[in-house]
Amino acid sequence: MKRIVSKEALNYIEENIVLGMGSGTTVEIFIEEMWKKGFKKLEIVPSSKKTEELLIKKGFRITELDDKCDIYIDGADAVNRDLQMIKGGGGALTREKILAYNSKKRIIIVDETKMRKNFQGLFLPIEILIFSYRATIKRIEDIGLKGKIRGGEKTFITDNGNYIFDLFIDERYPIEDMVMKIKMIPGVIETGFFKDLADLILVGKSDGNVEKISKIS
Ligand code: 5RP
Repeated sequence: MKRIVSKEALNYIEENIVLGMGSGTTVEIFIEEMWKKGFKKLEIVPSSKKTEELLIKKGFRITELDDKCDIYIDGADAVNRDLQMIKGGGGALTREKILAYNSKKRIIIVDETKMRKNFQGLFLPIEILIFSYRATIKRIEDIGLKGKIRGGEKTFITDNGNYIFDLFIDERYPIEDMVMKIKMIPGVIETGFFKDLADLILVGKSDGNVEKISKIS
């Protein structure tokens, strides 16, 4: 399903553009397909060290984010039909959100297992500063929310040098209210809730088809 959707996404890119590139296994398959297709003249802004390493290995040109990317391609952990997403399974959510925000067209590639009516019961990744992480977590818990630091004993560190707090999405709190409150806490860098940051979601299906979810349809 990830390969089917990756191949479909190739139809939306062309040479001589600036391409923002997300992270994760779906994106890695997309990079492989892009390489097979022989794209050479793209300039690519990677969202993570892992994506950057793969792009360099495949011989793609890397660039920095100076202005808007023409197109942004990324995966997601969960999506709904309102084009909202939960991201950050790989811990790259802050750079991914920056790239999505600074791109003219955002295309999200997922397999059908990522489709959700709502996000309740899932975890929302939150990037937090190490300096104050214990206090930051307590302030999040003061709102009545629960979660855990990613990695436990072997704590996961993001490319930005921060921790990830995986917050349990509690059905008693509407996700947008929850995110608004969390973002007010100093020490919270960013959350993995993405709203108005996808123009088109391509969903790879087990029957071989690709469903398109966009603002227009
Ligand atoms: C990384 C992400 C990824 O897009 C998300 O975790 C999906 O990954 P995969 O394609 O491996 O399922 O948000 O921070």
